[in-house]
Amino acid sequence: MFSRRTRWSLEPNQLTTRLQLRRAAGGEVLDLTEANPTRAGLGWPGAALAEALADPQVASYQPSPRGLPAARAAVAAYYQRRGVAMDPDHLVLCASTSEAYSFVFKLLADPGDAVLVPRPSYPLFEFLATLESLVVRSYPLACEGRWRIDTAALAAGCTADVRAIVVVSPNNPTGSFLSQPELAALRALGRPLVADEVFGDYALGEDPTRVGTLAASREGLSFTLSGLSKLAGLPQLKLGWIAVAGEPALVGRALERLDVIADTYLSVGTPVQLATPRLLEQAPAQKARIQERVEGNRAVLARTLGPESAARALPADGGWYAVVRLPRTRSEEAWVLELLERDGVLTHPGYFFDFDEEAYLVLSLLPEPAVFAEAAARLARRVDG
Ligand SMILES: Cc1ncc(COP(=O)(O)O)c(C=O)c1O
Repeated sequence: MFSRRTRWSLEPNQLTTRLQLRRAAGGEVLDLTEANPTRAGLGWPGAALAEALADPQVASYQPSPRGLPAARAAVAAYYQRRGVAMDPDHLVLCASTSEAYSFVFKLLADPGDAVLVPRPSYPLFEFLATLESLVVRSYPLACEGRWRIDTAALAAGCTADVRAIVVVSPNNPTGSFLSQPELAALRALGRPLVADEVFGDYALGEDPTRVGTLAASREGLSFTLSGLSKLAGLPQLKLGWIAVAGEPALVGRALERLDVIADTYLSVGTPVQLATPRLLEQAPAQKARIQERVEGNRAVLARTLGPESAARALPADGGWYAVVRLPRTRSEEAWVLELLERDGVLTHPGYFFDFDEEAYLVLSLLPEPAVFAEAAARLARRVDG
């Protein structure tokens, strides 16, 4: 009765089951998987949101496939503040970055075609692609002092059925940005690029080799995805976008077709579009709070897992996550379950993000500083005794 693409195994995994049991028994959980800013003491004040959302124009409906012009102008102004010239007509608004992927995959690929995604990376790709009846193939990132794309493996994996290459910059969870030489290698493959830049504003330090954004590119064809979820810490408002860039003729043709896709759903709500100019004006203050939290927790982790520790936080250039390498004295699964059951510390195992080897943990850097510091100390004690 149901489609093959929804034939998922819906059994909860061991970690979920044990976590539910622990919570049901009233056990303590220091949650280092919490990446929802509204649950990490990093929500916007309710009054500021209510004010931004209280526009009387909400009473009228003006359907517009690319999104309301004022909202798109505000997104273009956000790019202009980052030094990137952006034509508001090259933006298509949608409900989230996840939905943006589905629009772009519909535009670029037919059922059975493949998309290339980074590995390790964001675990949702498998679902996003499968729901479009696409095949997901991955290309590796390697950590040699710092993370880099294995461009030779990427080129080898770019077979005739690959219709798009996804880059996540900075990547979740490695925190690595796309570099200029990597971009040149990607472009040489001649496929449209889908650049997930949701964490693009969360960079550590400066690096001239970093690609700031693909949103202003004039080469090939690229789709830059972002939204309010991360850059303004507002996942609950559901507004994302696609910035189409590249050779002007290709951009025009892509936009015409995206118009039809977006018009079919008209998914982004009027209230959030009307509020977007005000929300984006206030976003830098919120972003600064999140950045401060992330940098503070990253520094605590580095101090806690000092040079003598058998656990090591891997280098990162940005993002909201830390990757910790653990000794291979036990499996990732065993580490994660032991940390939960003996120390009350919840972490993500690396295999959730498709790391090539064991044993890695992925930690969110959003939790409250006291929670994070205590959890990091327990992790260090568990590893080092
Ligand atoms: C790399 C990456 N892309 C996209 C998303 C989803 O963003 P949105 O809330 O806009 O769908 C996430 C959420 O964690 C993410 O980590």
